[in-house]
Amino acid sequence: MTKGLSYLRLGVNIDHVATIRNARGGRHPDPLRAAHLAVEAGADGITAHLREDRRHISDADIARLKSELTRPLNLEMAATPEMVAIALRHVPNACCLVPERREERTTEGGLDVVGQKAMLAPVIADLKAAGIRVSLFIEPDPRAIEASAELAADIVELHTGAYCEYAAADDARGMAAEAARLAQGASEAAARGLEVHAGHGLTFNTVAALARMPEVVELNIGHFLIGEAIFGGLPAAVRRMRSLMDEARHAAASRVLA
Ligand code: PXP
Repeated sequence: MTKGLSYLRLGVNIDHVATIRNARGGRHPDPLRAAHLAVEAGADGITAHLREDRRHISDADIARLKSELTRPLNLEMAATPEMVAIALRHVPNACCLVPERREERTTEGGLDVVGQKAMLAPVIADLKAAGIRVSLFIEPDPRAIEASAELAADIVELHTGAYCEYAAADDARGMAAEAARLAQGASEAAARGLEVHAGHGLTFNTVAALARMPEVVELNIGHFLIGEAIFGGLPAAVRRMRSLMDEARHAAASRVLA
């Protein structure tokens, strides 16, 4: 643990291993094998999104991940009766409720927690009653954070997509504005007692800004790591991400203590 700042966990999302497998059918490459490699290389947990259309991860993948993983499984899913039944069958460590359809999301892309509060309340209650930690994937918007706290979610995962898009476009002003919005959101969420995670679109170039935010305790990263694995292997990609996170966290902790 880095002194002065809590340990920052890395959740590796293995969805896109399944995307490649499904492009041909069959069993190769196996998302479970990728999950084991990611854990050996320093992942603290594995994230998988069971989509309603099963475009990548399958029901059988979730069963195998749950029974064979040695680290916590974070199941991303829509808040539908079908997905809730699956979650209650497998009891992952956490469920992150994400929007899949247009009407479930805000204009920016996070879950529309304010508009869907009545629908989300029983879903969250049922998952929590089964001992599953509940995370809501939201924009760093004060109203979404307030609604998440009122719904008694355990965690909010802040959507970093806009920050990463500004970074990809080399828009320093956009990046600074979005990083400030994320930092403010992280601090407001923590003040309301919510655990704070972040993710979507993170890369070697964008991870440090999030790793420096003291309230953020977990990052979930997938597409970029699986893409990098093509060039240098998954363990190397995970190790490099892990060390960039640790370096940024350590530098931020040094500033806090100075
Ligand atoms: N967090 C959440 C809630 C997500 O839905 C996703 C994408 O599945 C991620 C993190 C990971 O995003 P990426 O694959 O762009 O790293």
